[in-house]
Amino acid sequence: LFGVRDLVNEKQMVGEKAAEFVKDGMIVGLGTGSTVFYTIQKLGQLVNEGLSIKAVPTSIQTERLARELGITLVDFTEIEGFDLAIDGADEVDENLNLIKGGGGALLREKIIAYAAKEFIVIADSSKLVKSLGTFPLPVEVVPFGMELTERHLKELGGVPRLRTIDGAPFKTDNGNFIFDCDFGFIENAGELEKAINMIPGVVENGLFVGMADKVITLDKQGKVVIRG
Ligand code: 5RP
Repeated sequence: LFGVRDLVNEKQMVGEKAAEFVKDGMIVGLGTGSTVFYTIQKLGQLVNEGLSIKAVPTSIQTERLARELGITLVDFTEIEGFDLAIDGADEVDENLNLIKGGGGALLREKIIAYAAKEFIVIADSSKLVKSLGTFPLPVEVVPFGMELTERHLKELGGVPRLRTIDGAPFKTDNGNFIFDCDFGFIENAGELEKAINMIPGVVENGLFVGMADKVITLDKQGKVVIRG
């Protein structure tokens, strides 16, 4: 299996590869997490060397990083959409469907991926699965009535666990909570994605179905490959 050192290396390889798709003048959505960290770092370097882009971050964490690196950030009043969004994933299946939200940024990530002409996902080899569902599905819910929302998630077959940090509920950048839900292997990701979002109180869930245009990952020899 993979050592931690190898995975860090893989994250850097796929992360930096994704930066090659960013061209001068593009409006770019910047994802969240330890893989896209390397993309953002690389973009910072390219911007320093003269690349001109405008970016929107998918989290406060990414916003901080991008600012530090001197990447120009804009808000939604200044743009119509995105040429490109780049982000990591927690699981990627053979049809390029994803589970995301391990870092808690799924709502902003989905808003931006949905508005992008192209959505590129970067994933180390530990993220590749045959069927989605080993990684518990993150579901962002509003605090009001969350006990009811939890019950409805159970009725759909999930086993929800409220995400906590240091003993307190984890709060998203949007002031909401996250239930990490074990649905077992997910047979029909598209149906489940919609059914969960029909529950009042659910803001969004981490199933990204049919959204990824390309997945940058590694083959068995450790060579970067692009799927999609
Ligand atoms: C955050 C996400 C991340 O993309 C996902 O958790 C992957 O993170 P990492 O690159 O750190 O493994 O969805 O909400």
